Amino acid sequence: MKKIKVMSVFGTRPEAIKMAPLVKTLARREGIESLCCLTGQHRQMLDSVMEIFRLKGDYDLNIMQKQQTLSSITTRTILGMESVLEEAKPDLILVHGDTSTTFAGALAAFYHKIPVGHVEAGLRTYDVYSPFPEEMNRTLVGDIAALHFSPTLANAENLRKEAVKGEIFITGNTVIDAMATTVQPNFRFALEELNALDFENKRIIALTCHRRENYGKPMEDIFRAVRHIAETYEDVEFVYPVHLSPAVRECAGKYLGGVERIHLIEPLDVEQMHNLMARCHFVMTDSGGLQEEAPALGKPVLVLRRETERPEAIAAGTVKLVGVEYADIVRLAKELLDEPAVFDAMAKAVNPYGDGHACERIADAIEWYFGQRSEKPADFRP
Ligand code: UD1
Ligand code: UDP
Repeated sequence: MKKIKVMSVFGTRPEAIKMAPLVKTLARREGIESLCCLTGQHRQMLDSVMEIFRLKGDYDLNIMQKQQTLSSITTRTILGMESVLEEAKPDLILVHGDTSTTFAGALAAFYHKIPVGHVEAGLRTYDVYSPFPEEMNRTLVGDIAALHFSPTLANAENLRKEAVKGEIFITGNTVIDAMATTVQPNFRFALEELNALDFENKRIIALTCHRRENYGKPMEDIFRAVRHIAETYEDVEFVYPVHLSPAVRECAGKYLGGVERIHLIEPLDVEQMHNLMARCHFVMTDSGGLQEEAPALGKPVLVLRRETERPEAIAAGTVKLVGVEYADIVRLAKELLDEPAVFDAMAKAVNPYGDGHACERIADAIEWYFGQRSEKPADFRP
């Protein structure tokens, strides 16, 4: 049997976390040869994920620059992939989600007439400037892809409404597969500052904030609100692993640096991050991934954005869309801290995003597409 050569292309932290379990699943299939091409859009944060999941890239474009622009990420990826695709000649390229690596990877594959599989397909806000540039990236990949792996039914319905070409599968999100190995009882943090936290008697809030559309005033308002909460409640502490983006670090340092009960720390590796979330009181974030992980851990989430492409956990009651205005953030954080009934209603484990078998469904779908399997995989249903 001729093996199907599947090349996964990824470059940022969230893509790596969500592609790692899939790359491992593909490598276990007899009829598949699994290759990884890293763009290196994130250097340290990508390498950290690869180390935790014990993976190595077969190719590494190493494109990251200090103040990288969207144009530089996109062009360096497309140019870098030229020789990789000519040498490796894969049968299928897999890209994930909505980053500039995702879009440029898919476009490079198209230029070489190689079919594309899009993992985490069909998430939409229908506002091209929020999240920016991610909404446009994932929409454009929707037009390129031959295989669309949608985490949820709602994601698949978005694609059907847009009448995209190709096959749509509902698989669940691979991040839930990744969490099966990272969250552990009796976990010890590498950072003593985290081991020293009193998770029993203090209310620890896990905070992350990095989105480009939040740069400037929204991010300043978010941080001013966080500072107000920390100064108001003596039993509340924030842990904020600050993204390596210079724009984010400058703003975080200015508004939150040196404030009592706010721990500004370096990015955590994914194992540390998942275990921090598993132990925290609740989460405040503008991250996409955290909106999927925290509900699975039964942790309430306040989303620091104007919109979200992940409505499922809002419908389930664990996630609230707060926006980016100072007064709204303060009001809703206080409500969650002061009203036990509000907290209890949100703090229930729900899993609208997956059952831990997304990678198996995606591998089955690839085998079906290439004629190695007669049946399409059954859809994920929560
Ligand atoms: C990118 C993605 C965003 C995703 C986020 C996840 C795009 C356009 N944006 O964000 O969708 O949510 O990653 O974290 O693709 N840096 C380092 N080391 C690292 C990573 C980043 O030094 O390991 C610094 C570099 O100076 C880099 C900067 O951070 O220039 C920004 O990185 P970039 O990939 O452009 O981040 P975002 O666009 O903010
Ligand atoms: N994450 C991590 N360390 C951190 C912060 C986040 O490992 O210090 C993980 C988080 O658990 C999630 C992913 O990174 O799996 C989310 O990435 P990010 O928020 O950077 O991007 P987004 O999901 O918004 O695209």
